[in-house]
Amino acid sequence: MNRTKKINWGIIGAGIIARKMADALKINTDSELCAIASKTISKAEKFAEEFGIEHAYSYQEIVESKEIDVIYVATTHNFHYENAKLALEHGKHVLVEKAFTVNAKQAKDLVRIAREKNLFLMEAIWVRFLPSYKLLKDKIQNKEIGEVKLFDISFGNIVLPKYARRLIEPDLAGGVTLDMGIYPISFVCYMLGELPCEIKSMTQFSETGVDETSCYMFRFPSGCFANISASYNLKMKNSAEIYGTKGYIEFNQFVCGEDYTILKHDGTNEIKDTIEIHEKNPANGFVCQVEEVVRCIKEGKTESEIIPLDETIGIMEVMDKMREEWGFQYPFEEEGK
Ligand SMILES: NC(=O)c1ccc[n+]([C@@H]2O[C@H](COP(=O)([O-])OP(=O)(O)OC[C@H]3O[C@@H](n4cnc5c(N)ncnc54)[C@H](OP(=O)(O)O)[C@@H]3O)[C@@H](O)[C@H]2O)c1
Repeated sequence: MNRTKKINWGIIGAGIIARKMADALKINTDSELCAIASKTISKAEKFAEEFGIEHAYSYQEIVESKEIDVIYVATTHNFHYENAKLALEHGKHVLVEKAFTVNAKQAKDLVRIAREKNLFLMEAIWVRFLPSYKLLKDKIQNKEIGEVKLFDISFGNIVLPKYARRLIEPDLAGGVTLDMGIYPISFVCYMLGELPCEIKSMTQFSETGVDETSCYMFRFPSGCFANISASYNLKMKNSAEIYGTKGYIEFNQFVCGEDYTILKHDGTNEIKDTIEIHEKNPANGFVCQVEEVVRCIKEGKTESEIIPLDETIGIMEVMDKMREEWGFQYPFEEEGK
């Protein structure tokens, strides 16, 4: 890859999140958004006009376009696997919205294809690339609060009507775990650099039959615990508390906050030092994720070290296991997908 050449992007799915990405791609000077694809061509045309994009395509046309280097899959969860597979099979690098796929079986298949074809593939957990995340991880790894022993995270919002369908429909692979729970799960795995070895979970189902409010408890190989609750129908505190042997961190405004407080002690119950941290993130945080994709593709990398594919598969396995505990399958999974 010529490192001075711009990376040409195409987007599959002309919905809500595609707009945030289109804005981010305008900001990144190494990127060019060349095409948008939708199942409904008039929708793609409208999107193209709104963002000044040259081509409005069908899915088939976008993956066949010679000028496009990388496809961003911005459809609902149920479509991620087939959209990403189509793009990879046509030789495109792929960035897939979260949750990467519906289950680990699909995730493994995408990773297999990408590796066979030597293509870049990544799950779009955009928050991992934010400066505030990087600094927080550094502080944890540098043992500012000693050995980390417990994460306590709540992440819940009453879903806005414009997002509701995506969250509540079993056919779209809705449910709080794939849509929102993935963030705290991914957060803990990223901060610790490991996957849970023991999992206990419970859920409350919605009237539509998807998981609405869920609680997850994990034990990690390092001995750390995580206690996570997520809901698309409860306004929660949206914070992460991280407890170590020498203090704790309050990370407010989960999932993409810029402020946190480190409260240190010396192994007693008395707080000796309180440090307020502010680490600014860009207004459109997707820009950091775009920079990572561009960097990886230009350097000929097929995955990002910040969110390795084996970790993405591991997290899908965690979510599979919890859904198994709840006896919860999506309708199309019953057909073996
Ligand atoms: N990173 C974030 O902060 C963030 C935030 C929100 C969402 N997301 C993720 O982004 C993805 C898309 O979310 P979104 O809010 O953008 O979704 P959306 O606007 O509801 O839908 C995105 C696209 O999915 C297809 N689609 C949606 N509903 C459909 C239906 N009933 N039947 C057939 N196709 C349908 C359409 O593709 P066509 O245009 O081709 O028809 C639509 O344009 C999800 O994976 C979600 O988890 C991420």
